[in-house]
Amino acid sequence: MGNPLFFKEDMEDLKKNMDKMKVGIIGAGGIAQTTHIPCFKKVENVEVSAIADINKEKLQYVAEKFEIKYTFTEWERLIDTDVDAVVICSPNTFHAEQSIQAMKAGKHVLCEKPVCLTGAEVEKVFSISEKTGKKFMAAFPRRFSGEAKVLKQMIEGGEFGEIYYIKAGFLRRRGIPGLGTWFTNKKLAGGGPMMDVGVHILDFVMYLAGAPMPELIIGSKYNKFKDSATDGGWPPMDTRKGDKASGKMEVEDLASGFVKLASGATLFIEASWAGNSEVGIKATLMGTKAGVQMPDPVDPKNPVRIYSENKGILTDILPAIPSSNTYQEEVNHFVECIRKDRQPITKKHEVLSVVKIIEGIYKSAETGKPVLCKNES
Ligand SMILES: NC(=O)c1ccc[n+]([C@@H]2O[C@H](COP(=O)([O-])OP(=O)(O)OC[C@H]3O[C@@H](n4cnc5c(N)ncnc54)[C@H](O)[C@@H]3O)[C@@H](O)[C@H]2O)c1
Repeated sequence: MGNPLFFKEDMEDLKKNMDKMKVGIIGAGGIAQTTHIPCFKKVENVEVSAIADINKEKLQYVAEKFEIKYTFTEWERLIDTDVDAVVICSPNTFHAEQSIQAMKAGKHVLCEKPVCLTGAEVEKVFSISEKTGKKFMAAFPRRFSGEAKVLKQMIEGGEFGEIYYIKAGFLRRRGIPGLGTWFTNKKLAGGGPMMDVGVHILDFVMYLAGAPMPELIIGSKYNKFKDSATDGGWPPMDTRKGDKASGKMEVEDLASGFVKLASGATLFIEASWAGNSEVGIKATLMGTKAGVQMPDPVDPKNPVRIYSENKGILTDILPAIPSSNTYQEEVNHFVECIRKDRQPITKKHEVLSVVKIIEGIYKSAETGKPVLCKNES
């Protein structure tokens, strides 16, 4: 006979609580408020239970708004609590250290892009993940787009043949985020648009192309708008409680890179926060059997177009792209990887190739010389 004080519903409640995943957020700013907290709150049996930020005013506001129990002004104290996973939403320069310390403290990590500032940091973060057995996932939401799903399936199925030429761009005309905050501080951000938005489209094309390592990189960067720069509106104003924007525009407003990859392919990547040109997010991958052009995804007149050949006839294909909720799917994937003990979609060699390319572009731009990459791993 079972314990008469225990009813079936109690048992189910107890089980639910035992299975409940507790998540802690480091950095209570724009991306945490608009995306990560709401997305984690939608996942069954997940609780956002703790949050850390150096800005007390914002911390209290966000904790009250989203009913988060525990608040910390020191992130080191958050990783010492009983949270199962930590989401890193702090300025770029802190990502690697906070990820490493969180995994060492036994937490799984979802880390915002650009994830790391250097290839050496990527190596370290993934080696700690291997040693501790804790999941490390890079937050690249475009991986969950309908475009990525369709194209990855086609490319892996051999329908593109060998991919040998790649062009990618993320261009804004007047869109400098958080002007004067950490975003435009060289030490805290690590770089400007290439690090901030270029990384999104770079990861997208490198993921599709199988992430060959860079061998030779020539980079350029400019800061032509530093005296006339205006704030581009991200993070949203209502998420900036207590932020101070007293700094200067120290990073580039435009960067580009020409990269020879170990596969023999060539990559051209460009990113701007400010510039006098068309705007948009664009990607082209050319293979020996087919190629694809992905123009601005928000422009319905310009759908994804595949350039192919069928029995000697040049053929354009407009694939039906399934709709997606990229940020929610990213969070769902992270939780599922923890629960089902699976490896996250963002593999070490992919993150490494992306970060090494950005690192190389900056180094080449700063030295005025091409960068030759060593690729041991
Ligand atoms: N995936 C995306 O589409 C996307 C979009 C925007 C931003 N991001 C990334 O998310 C991260 C945060 O960007 P954001 O737009 O939310 O910026 P934000 O400025 O709105 O938020 C950053 C927060 O981190 C806090 N902070 C600063 N130093 C800290 C520290 N040592 N410990 C804890 N918190 C600290 C700041 O006070 C601020 O509240 C960046 O790495 C950015 O690249 C990703």
